[in-house]
Order: sequence, then structure tokens, then C-alpha cells
Amino acid sequence: MLYRILDYAHYLLENSVEKGELVLDGTAGNGHDTLFLSSLVGEEGHVLSFDIQQQAINATKAKLNEKKITNVTLIHDSHEKIHTYMPSEHEQIGGAIYNLGYLPGSDKSIITTPNTTLASIQTTLQYLKQHRLLVLVVYHGHPGGEEEKEALMKYLATLDQKHYSVLRYGFINQANNPPFILAIEKK
Ligand SMILES: C[S@@+](CC[C@H](N)C(=O)[O-])C[C@H]1O[C@@H](n2cnc3c(N)ncnc32)[C@H](O)[C@@H]1O
Repeated sequence: MLYRILDYAHYLLENSVEKGELVLDGTAGNGHDTLFLSSLVGEEGHVLSFDIQQQAINATKAKLNEKKITNVTLIHDSHEKIHTYMPSEHEQIGGAIYNLGYLPGSDKSIITTPNTTLASIQTTLQYLKQHRLLVLVVYHGHPGGEEEKEALMKYLATLDQKHYSVLRYGFINQANNPPFILAIEKK
């Protein structure tokens, strides 16, 4: 069976993230990935979870409270400011996920954008441990989505293959600009 897109994103992280690590959710949204990461790293680990929208922060906070999860720091700020929120300059990240686009069921004009997404990815790659993954779920069917996709493809193709492997995973026979995965492994 081929993994669906979100299942494959989780599969990749499940097979690389270890208990006790610090990990990143670049786009908290409704909190699904944050909860998933929280369970992967366990009580000894920690999740930094960013979103610029109060609605997303509220939705994620409600899920965390409901499940009494305490290993997550929710950050109401833009993900390119990771530097500011890292516990220390020398701390490393065991994995990261970004679900790009807009918050389902919310204002479709609030979207991830090429400049901030690229800036954030560059910073996260600096903090990422060797042999670990930064996973991007790229939604590109909405206004602005195509520009972000193009900017990402262009930038990731320039990453030196000596230092990074970049995978694209997606279905080529689905209608309506289906999302796909870009996964970056730090060698
Ligand atoms: C597709 S949703 C994320 C879905 C989420 N992963 C989930 O599990 O529900 C994209 C989110 O990115 C957020 N976002 C947009 N620009 C951002 C930025 N610069 N920094 C952090 N979050 C951002 C939006 O507010 C939105 O909630």
C-alpha cells in the first residue's frame, strides 16, 4: 500500500525522531502534528510549535489541555524567528514538520509565504541533527500556493547533495493540485 500524504509525513518522522529529543512544528494549525510529535518525543522530550494565528494557537492549546500534554511550548509568532525561542544556541533538533498553506476552516488569506517559509527552513536546517529530517507538506492549490511551491523547489534544488538529500513524494494522477511531501535529510 502506498502511504497517503499525511501518513507518509508521520511515517518519516516516526522512523527518525527519538524519545527525549527537541522537535519543531513550524505550523501548529489545529494541532494534529504537534500532538503527534509530542507522543514521539515522550515526556522527556519537547516540542516547539509555532503559529501566527490566535485561532490556531487556541485550537492547539485546547487539544493539549484535553490530553493533559505538558511537553509542548506553543509560540504565537512567525516560524522564521526560531532563533529567539531555541533553549540555547547549541541545542539541536531531532526533526521538524511544516504543513504549508492556510488553516482549514479558517481565513484562507492567512497563508505561509515564500520568504518566511524559506527563512525558517534555513534556520531549522542549521539546528537539525545529522541524519534527521525536515518534512514539508506542500499544499499549492490556493492563491499564493503555487508561488510558494516554486520558491521551495528552486531553493531545495540548490542544496548541496554532499550535505543534504531532498525527497519529493506525491501522487501524479490526482485532480486539483494534490499536496505533496518534500523531505530534507541532513547528511
Ligand atoms: C495547513 S495549516 C497547518 C495544519 C496543522 N499542521 C495541523 O495539524 O492542523 C498552516 C498554518 O500555518 C500558519 N502560518 C502561516 N504563516 C505562518 C508563519 N509565518 N509562522 C507560523 N505559522 C504560520 C497558519 O496560521 C496555519 O495555521
